[in-house]
Amino acid sequence: GFGGAEQKLAPSSPPQTAEPPSGITVLFGSQTGNAQRIAKALHARLQQSGISARLEDMATYKSAQLRRDRCLFVIVSTHGEGEPPDSARPFYEFLFSKKAPKLDGLQFSVLALGDTSYEHFCKTGREFDSRLEDLGASRCHPRIDCDVDYEEAAEAWMKGVLEVLTQSQGPRVEISTPAAAVPVSVYSKKQPFPAVLLDNLRLTGRGSTKDVRHIELSIEGSGLRFEPGDALGVLPTNRPETVADLMESLGLDPGAIISAADGAETTLEDALLHHYEITTLTRPFLENYAALSGSTELRELLKDENRDRLRDFVYGREIIDVVRRYPVSGIMADHFVATLRKLPPRLYSIASSQNADPDEVHLTVAVVRYESHGVERHGVASTFLADRVPEGEKVPVYVDSNPNFRLPEDPDAPIIMVGPGTGVAPFRAFLAEREVMGARGKNWLFFGDRNFRTDFLYQREWLAHRKNGLLTRIDVAFSRDDDAKVYVQHRMLEQSRQLYAWLEEGAYFYVCGDAKRMAPDVHEALISVVQKEAGVDRERAEDYVRNLQTAKRYRRDVY
Ligand code: 2AM
Repeated sequence: GFGGAEQKLAPSSPPQTAEPPSGITVLFGSQTGNAQRIAKALHARLQQSGISARLEDMATYKSAQLRRDRCLFVIVSTHGEGEPPDSARPFYEFLFSKKAPKLDGLQFSVLALGDTSYEHFCKTGREFDSRLEDLGASRCHPRIDCDVDYEEAAEAWMKGVLEVLTQSQGPRVEISTPAAAVPVSVYSKKQPFPAVLLDNLRLTGRGSTKDVRHIELSIEGSGLRFEPGDALGVLPTNRPETVADLMESLGLDPGAIISAADGAETTLEDALLHHYEITTLTRPFLENYAALSGSTELRELLKDENRDRLRDFVYGREIIDVVRRYPVSGIMADHFVATLRKLPPRLYSIASSQNADPDEVHLTVAVVRYESHGVERHGVASTFLADRVPEGEKVPVYVDSNPNFRLPEDPDAPIIMVGPGTGVAPFRAFLAEREVMGARGKNWLFFGDRNFRTDFLYQREWLAHRKNGLLTRIDVAFSRDDDAKVYVQHRMLEQSRQLYAWLEEGAYFYVCGDAKRMAPDVHEALISVVQKEAGVDRERAEDYVRNLQTAKRYRRDVY
């Protein structure tokens, strides 16, 4: 095995399933649950078609199994700067190491999940795809790369995979429609629930450099169910001023009729307000727009050798900047719309517990407003929630479950939560849940933000929890109160003895918030804590942390 072989840390070993004779494995690497969901759906469909297959998580998939498999369907997402999901990392590293076996007899296909607004779009899936081929396996169906709006592409891939299998397995079997997981609610991403906005409170004090809101929504009557750790998908409306600026820059009439993706007709203004992403730059947009405008400069920028220049250009810019810089005369409304991607929902970690507040969902929202390249920018969903939905009006929402970010099943297990800034949101849900369920496990929170006076989000709640004993410890780091920057990871290092003692007692370690700098720094700090307190070298400390990850006692929700 890889990594998981030498777990000393109470690994939760999966139930041993009887080996299907087919040698077909549906293998997923999932961070937020999407890849896992697709894998489950494919597995269910295979079973319906009479094809037995195993469903495996990269977190626990064994190298011996890989050697035995005949057919491997990989579904994996990419995060941050082109990285695999946390729980998939040991398998990923194994596959790219010298220890990886020859895979001559193996057939495979990869479904890659990603986001075209990132430079390293679907990198992990692409890497798996080429690595499996390099190891001798043969691709039985082409890889498909999905943007955030992945459903259709995933569907096409599953169909393709099923066709390959049913053809190769002799008589064609009728492929039935997916065994959709029994819906608890009629509301979903496809059909969001209109939730009434109950409350919009500013959490940050006067004089703060940040505007962070506590938003409460009513989901009464929706049948929506969520657990602590889940996210709420919000379908925002674009900012009317941004829509107007864009139409003006394009010289287009707001009333121009265009046909929407579903074939229905609507006005350009309506389409740009509700249906399309009009701010974030993605590579497909730049390519489409370069073709439409015929700009040689833009085409040049998109060439492979100009990656660095493109990155610099995209930084701090949005669609409006491209339109202004590379104008097209006489552009048609529907040609422009065809360059855009659908407006993706924005996900917010839920800050409340349904057992404590059955009909409500609370969110902690940092309102994104800044200036770059001389233009005022506004986060789509955050300014929608903060500025454009009056109390009493409705917000289309759905629950986006995150099966990887869960409280321990054992209510007595201690938990350590690291959540600076709005990263604290799910931990408010964790504590509310543990309180209402009477869970007796110890709870330790690390919180950080800029200034104590203005940015101590939910300060009174934490102090009340501290007083009544629910919160065993709280350590805070305010980075702009003194000259020296103090961050949550500095507090972790100061408390290393206690922290390590908690881990040795079986504590779960959670991190939520910034993925780019905070999460890697906290990861480093965790390794340092283990190295120091266990008195081991760096490599052993890394093993310890890796084992925590495989045992699902180190979980992250970072963005
Ligand atoms: P800063 O803005 O003063 O740099 C929540 O945003 C808190 O996270 C802020 O105090 C912010 O500090 C801090 N922060 C910024 N970079 C960080 C990092 N690399 N690790 C941990 N916290 C960080």
